[in-house]
Amino acid sequence: MFLNQKKIILGNWKMNQNLDQVRSFFEELETFGDISQGICPQAPYLSILENIRPKIGNFLVGSQNISSEASGAFTGETSIQTLSDFSSNFTLVGHSERRQLFHENDELLIKKINLSMEHGVGVVFCIGETLEQRESNRVNEVLSAQLTNVLPKVQNLKPELTCIAYEPVWAIGTGKTATAKQAVEAHRMVKSIISNSLPAKFSKTPILYGGSVKPSNAQELLENPEISGALIGGASLKASDFNEISRIAANIQA
Ligand code: PGA
Repeated sequence: MFLNQKKIILGNWKMNQNLDQVRSFFEELETFGDISQGICPQAPYLSILENIRPKIGNFLVGSQNISSEASGAFTGETSIQTLSDFSSNFTLVGHSERRQLFHENDELLIKKINLSMEHGVGVVFCIGETLEQRESNRVNEVLSAQLTNVLPKVQNLKPELTCIAYEPVWAIGTGKTATAKQAVEAHRMVKSIISNSLPAKFSKTPILYGGSVKPSNAQELLENPEISGALIGGASLKASDFNEISRIAANIQA
């Protein structure tokens, strides 16, 4: 799913979009064959996406979260099995909002990724530094810890199911985007950490950029070969913006 070398444009809707908005988004959606596109809606809408899936071809459907347990007495959680029943292709793991607001730690993230690999569900593993960490020159150290404390410890991590999203915490939902230079620099760090900590078959693992990506900055970010695509929050809520960013990616790819 993630190894086809196409630019990957994913939307993370977070806890937004009502039923009408979900339906009209997919009516307005434009798909582009040269790239991979996908959306992570709120979990109950995954079932609707399954119904419209035949109309949207290879469009990827993702979950924003999964339980770290396979099943059982875990009120309020959604299991990986349920998500695979609704043909979810991938799940986000380690998003900074889940790390910060829901106190998710490395041990929990390893369990979630183990379950995803077992069920053939792709993982977009999110990492990124805070402003304070950046200002104290700790970006490489933080990214390295976030990656090496988790990925090498996953049982049977599969390259075709693995994708990284570099999302500087200070750029998420703030309107502040990393400059293309900052993003490229961080993506190079991630690539080198991967090559030092995972087997060679992970050398082509795509690395997405996330954090206030919008139509006006997509070109300068996505034109860099180090940036394999984008994980988009706010700007993915409007089909017109999502279409525009996808078009920019498709033109770069072509
Ligand atoms: P944003 O969110 O595009 O609204 O900054 C990105 C994300 O949280 O994945």
